Amino acid sequence: MPHILDRIPGLPGVISAIAGKDDLIFCDRDNHASIIDGTRLSFAKTIKYQHNDMGDLAEKLEAAPTNRGKLIVADGIFSMLGDIVKLPDMHRLAKRFGARILLDDAHAFGVLGLNGRGTAEHHGLEKETDLVMGTFSKSLASIGGFVAGDREVIDFLKHKARSLIFSASLPPASAAGVIAALTVLEREPERRARLWVNANKMRASLRALGLDTGDSETPVVPVILGDQEYTFRFWRQLFERGVFANPVCSPAVPAGMDLLRTSYMATHTDQQLAFVRDQFAAVLEQMGAPPRTLATQRAAIPRAPDRSANWPAAFASELLLPGGSARSFFMSALSGNIETPFCQVSTALSDFPCCWYMLPRNR
Ligand SMILES: Cc1ncc(COP(=O)(O)O)c(C=O)c1O
Repeated sequence: MPHILDRIPGLPGVISAIAGKDDLIFCDRDNHASIIDGTRLSFAKTIKYQHNDMGDLAEKLEAAPTNRGKLIVADGIFSMLGDIVKLPDMHRLAKRFGARILLDDAHAFGVLGLNGRGTAEHHGLEKETDLVMGTFSKSLASIGGFVAGDREVIDFLKHKARSLIFSASLPPASAAGVIAALTVLEREPERRARLWVNANKMRASLRALGLDTGDSETPVVPVILGDQEYTFRFWRQLFERGVFANPVCSPAVPAGMDLLRTSYMATHTDQQLAFVRDQFAAVLEQMGAPPRTLATQRAAIPRAPDRSANWPAAFASELLLPGGSARSFFMSALSGNIETPFCQVSTALSDFPCCWYMLPRNR
């Protein structure tokens, strides 16, 4: 099961090394699965707060004992909904309650911030953010990842993170790919600008069709359809028309929030984006309005029971069909990840050849 193992050196390794049995981890409910795995591997107590709800986080921090170490962990850009963590408020809370912040910048690295350095740069809070992690598998089109923080913390992690110590190093070709991608991203910031133009255009197009793109404000643009069966049928229709999107159902999102996750690249042409929009329009016309539309307020939707155990076999098998006309789109999506911009860590990358790089940050 290599696709499961390759996540282990990342967030789970870092979180479980940092948070000990007397500590508290405050975890956004919509955090990525690898964060959840990290909290489970750690001996700390995990307290979940409502998605990006700083009021709820404040209440949870307030109720916590003052004498415990506290770590707040959140995605920078949330991977399913494409919204950005409310870092300024989170930082104020962290200061007030003596907590540390760990950001998972998997989707933000190379995308957010003037120089593509991610969520903390976007919010002007780089010095205030204790630890930032990112993967090489998104904007850098490789495998592995990094964690950046104060030198003492990074040194500690190098000697404490079991999954780092007991795991093989990154293959040289993957490391070389990362370095090459960083160079492209550093030298060609116009790609990041183009990425944002494409993402904003598509979000507007999908919303103009009456689709619910939630609180997305980044190149991750969900189309929230609200029903599992409808979502898989929609996905299949799009696929047959040459458009690949990720169908996302419970447990990746709460039941009733079933969605198609679309995401955009700097290299998508206007023609391709118009094609995608037209296919969404055509499938909508064919299938009728989704259970969940813009007119439906999120709060008004009761959370449906989790029906993932009852997936009709037909829908599951549809996911496994060979690419056909959609294949080229899919392949371009895979190879095109390299086209998004990047952040300034290239020089440090070559001196620590492991799967997840530890980057000391001198303040
Ligand atoms: C927010 C987030 N964090 C972490 C990861 C894990 O990245 P990788 O598969 O490169 O370990 C992902 C991948 O989907 C992600 O979306």
